[in-house]
Amino acid sequence: MSNFEDWLRAQAQERENAGLTRRLRSRHPSEPAIDLAGNDYLGLSRHPRVVAGAVAATVEYGAGAGASRLVTGTLPIHDELERALADFSGFPTALVCSTGYHANLSVVSALVDADTLVVSDAHAHASMIDACRLGRAHVQVVAHNDVAAVDAALMARKQARALVLVETIYSVLGDAAPVSELAEVCAARGAVLVADEAHAIGVAGVGGRGLVHAAGLAHRADIVATLTLSKSLGAQGGAVLSSRTVREHLVNRARPFIYDTGLAPGAAGGALAALEVIEDEPARVERVNLVASALAVACRVDMPAGAVLAVPMGGPLEAVAAVEKAAGSGLRIGCFRPPSTPDGISRLRLTAHAHLDDLELVTAVEVLEGLL
Ligand SMILES: Cc1ncc(COP(=O)(O)O)c(C=O)c1O
Repeated sequence: MSNFEDWLRAQAQERENAGLTRRLRSRHPSEPAIDLAGNDYLGLSRHPRVVAGAVAATVEYGAGAGASRLVTGTLPIHDELERALADFSGFPTALVCSTGYHANLSVVSALVDADTLVVSDAHAHASMIDACRLGRAHVQVVAHNDVAAVDAALMARKQARALVLVETIYSVLGDAAPVSELAEVCAARGAVLVADEAHAIGVAGVGGRGLVHAAGLAHRADIVATLTLSKSLGAQGGAVLSSRTVREHLVNRARPFIYDTGLAPGAAGGALAALEVIEDEPARVERVNLVASALAVACRVDMPAGAVLAVPMGGPLEAVAAVEKAAGSGLRIGCFRPPSTPDGISRLRLTAHAHLDDLELVTAVEVLEGLL
């Protein structure tokens, strides 16, 4: 056995001993389990209009965009989706990328230089952390949702510019960022707020327009939002919402945008149809919040800001055991364990779905009450 294989096997053993081994498991859509783990919060990935939108765009434009956006990979379906996203969120413009991950990589890496400080919430998503690395930025991590710490970091900085990175609804903890207060501090200290709305779009704010829109901040040139098309919008892809100036800068400078094939037409068509469904069927947004509240009561945790609920567990082994027990009762739930949790706490992660019917919700509540 080579040194390389020894090294891999030793790491695998360490992971196994610590209860941290991750395994891929394919999920057939016909499985009867009640899904409280996925991020298709509004149930749109299989909505007939969304599927039809994806099919129609694929038939019209092909299975792939065929090139990066700056070469020949910008298609009318991208333009349409960008206009619809900007209208929906209240931002002046949108720029569609191939994933939400790329949206964060693009924004952060293109908006920093050697004279920029990045202040990042301790629970910011991995894509933001990787974005900081890509931009080779000077980064200061601050305690979760601690506006005073953000202010102190911005005030004490030596760099001319600063970015503040937050999620508006946190992907693991499920709580909301104090968006208005952060925006105020950023304005006062000459910093740009980058707000990842991945878990807020479609769920939080007026008609699911997100928390930046709800705070009346979408018009501000010093606020940039990112989102994914792969959660509430039921498709795949990501987008940056911003001023025209920021968009133009990204098109010219964001390497993860420039050197990446444009979003597949089917994903763009699906997301476009999903935005229309959200506007036509506002009851979906209300329902996902009602389901989230019922699950929070069953799990005895605080009301979540959106569709994500976090239930702290004693350790990774307890978390995995709970997930397996729930699966035995027909409930699919997720868990986050170190190193995915910055504070080292293992948590069950449950997600609410608008398409759970009343019987499924009662079953889910009963199973969770018996589990926790
Ligand atoms: C907060 C947050 N930002 C960005 C992403 C990345 O989005 P995508 O899956 O579209 O790459 C995710 C998760 O997938 C996320 O939870």
